Amino acid sequence: METELQSLIDEARTDLQSAADIQSIEQLRIAYLGRNGRITAILRRVGSLPPEERPKIGQLANAAKQQISQLIDQRTEALTKTKAAETPSPSLDISLPGKRTKLGHIHPLTATVNRVVDIFAHLGFDLMEGPEIESEYYNFISLNMPDSHPARDMQDTFYINDKTVLRTHTSPVQTRTMEQIEPPVRVVAVGKCYRRDADASHSPMFYQIEGFAVDVDITMADLKDTLVTFAHMFFNADVKTRLRTSYFPFTEPSAELDVECAICNGAGCRVCGHSGWSELLGCGMIHPKVFEHVGYDYEKFSGFAFGMGLDRVTMAKHSIDEIRLLYENDLRFLEQF
Ligand code: PHE
Repeated sequence: METELQSLIDEARTDLQSAADIQSIEQLRIAYLGRNGRITAILRRVGSLPPEERPKIGQLANAAKQQISQLIDQRTEALTKTKAAETPSPSLDISLPGKRTKLGHIHPLTATVNRVVDIFAHLGFDLMEGPEIESEYYNFISLNMPDSHPARDMQDTFYINDKTVLRTHTSPVQTRTMEQIEPPVRVVAVGKCYRRDADASHSPMFYQIEGFAVDVDITMADLKDTLVTFAHMFFNADVKTRLRTSYFPFTEPSAELDVECAICNGAGCRVCGHSGWSELLGCGMIHPKVFEHVGYDYEKFSGFAFGMGLDRVTMAKHSIDEIRLLYENDLRFLEQF
């Protein structure tokens, strides 16, 4: 039995040498040490030996078992190491220059919105919002533009149904707010507006900011001062402005504020329609009819309102000659700001 045990160890060693992977080793472990394995078979036979031989052979068999188990462990370890060496690890060359992360920046139009709102906040205006899908009542009727009023022509828009439109201006926020808040009010509202318009300075979707103030004794001088102060803060202290008479059904008297065209410096060009001025906003003293709609006492209160095209303001500030550039998302354009 002693020799049998020795040759079993030798056999196991050769078998293990030719085992090429972990599975084959596992099979050998079962074949030699498993419950029906060869060593186990020998151990079982120990019981049938003459009593004086049992301890010695038992000891030898256990030692053989341990040795084979050690051989198995060694072979497993050796195989795992070669495998690890063969698997290529991702190479990392820390001396290579890094990849620069490109930081984006705020769209010029958004930058204008932020700056303009900041300026009016500084002048004491609160910020409100109104819906882009607006009722015909707030968009037109509450602003003294009843059905078939000729002024509606200039504000043709997308009708969702007879009574619902994509708002053509931010002015409906005036009447919506005045219904909720008693004077004194000083509010600005920013948002998208829609009109059937498209050329170098008109886009079917554009941005406006509405501003209005109602209190006792508000006059046109307050309006002019607010707007000129804004122009000086937004453009520069030397910017040339002019207030020109105009007409809006919801203000009386009405005016428009122009700044000298930044593209041609007043000489006249395609963008300013060869006038030398670019039109920034419409404004005026709020019409008593509007006060009537919201239940304000027009004998007691007066107010001014203005609606400014934020695309225009952005164009004037950066000498952009084409409004569509603001909505095309062309990086060659956007990266210039
Ligand atoms: N809502 C007008 C427009 O879009 C502008 C405006 C606003 C005029 C407030 C007067 C007062 O044309």
